[in-house]
Amino acid sequence: MSAPIAAQVPLSSLIPRWPPPLDAAVEERLLGVVRSGLWGSTQGQVVETLARRLAALHGVASATCCANGTIAIVLALKAAGVGPGDEVIVPAYTFLATVSAPLLIGAVPVFAEVDPATMLLDPADVARRITTRTRAIIPVHLAGAVADAAAMRAAAPNNVVVIEDAAQAIGAAHVSGAIGQLGDFATLSFQTSKNVASGEGGAVLCRDAAMGERVWSLHNAGRTRGGAWYQHDNVGWNLRMGELQGVLADATLDTLPEMTERREAGFARLRALAAGEGLPVVPLESPGTTRHARHLMLWRLHEVAAHRRDGVVAALQAAGVHASDGYPCLNTVASVKAGIAALGGAADQPLPVTEAAAKRTFWFPQNVLLAGEEAHRAIIAVMARALQS
Ligand SMILES: Cc1ncc(COP(=O)(O)O)c(C=O)c1O
Repeated sequence: MSAPIAAQVPLSSLIPRWPPPLDAAVEERLLGVVRSGLWGSTQGQVVETLARRLAALHGVASATCCANGTIAIVLALKAAGVGPGDEVIVPAYTFLATVSAPLLIGAVPVFAEVDPATMLLDPADVARRITTRTRAIIPVHLAGAVADAAAMRAAAPNNVVVIEDAAQAIGAAHVSGAIGQLGDFATLSFQTSKNVASGEGGAVLCRDAAMGERVWSLHNAGRTRGGAWYQHDNVGWNLRMGELQGVLADATLDTLPEMTERREAGFARLRALAAGEGLPVVPLESPGTTRHARHLMLWRLHEVAAHRRDGVVAALQAAGVHASDGYPCLNTVASVKAGIAALGGAADQPLPVTEAAAKRTFWFPQNVLLAGEEAHRAIIAVMARALQS
């Protein structure tokens, strides 16, 4: 009698879920906070300790944890005095928050091109778009690769701040330094999909201690550290992170070095397998990045295979792989265009380089990188079939 044929394991079951399951010690820490009743960061010490840890990790003077990564960008803009009518230079190939943050405070996004080889903001194009109204530049460390924010800082006039949107790049570094040391501010996100996750959460890193205190005040009802509870030296919001979120972010931060190593190995294996099969697609590399956070794996189809992008993504999704065709270019999104026009900015800002590159790009989220060899071989086989069909 022949052996029974083993049921085929679905590919999705070979890809670990993100965030990873918590271990018992983290559950205990969470319960400890719940039982203590010290749920807010003005009472407990978890968030404050996390902030100091984030500052030390990136070698900056100050870190303030806050409600999310979108509001972290708003806080940086407000602390720098950016306001209505000011221009903020941004890339278009990014999550909405990079652009909605300036819009939400009445500042006008001005789009600049990315370098198509990396999808990171192009310093030369940024320099061309600086005007007397420019007050900020927001390079995005997309996918965990680090944009050349130091070059943008060096080329910008003194009244322009550089805010590194590092939502996807905690712990990453560039040849010019760690994130947070390249511009004036760096902002992080701990939203569930991120490499350090707490459900929701964010942080603002600051090189300058006094500016860091301004961020802290704005996120905490305009208070001054060490001042009285009802002493409001600024008109601020309540954008504090809660202590339970602090435990989750702190616990996932503990796993960051090991997880980054695993994602790095997964990236290398997928790249080698795709090259071994001769697929007309390559992962994007970022030569200036010395420590990549590997949040996403961006793939670029060769010109001849560009028309297959949507088919490849659909085939991967049908096989249970969380592939994405990537961001819409925000300069083409109707709500963004209307928001810019309402502020007197140019609604139509074509970006031929970014838009052409985006059409040939797709990505895997980090949990795909964390899968093992069997899953990676199966993923490359799905890609190969979709590219031939
Ligand atoms: C590049 C980028 N910037 C900003 C954000 C905003 O972060 P949050 O979702 O925590 O508001 C995200 C993630 O969601 C992001 O990917």
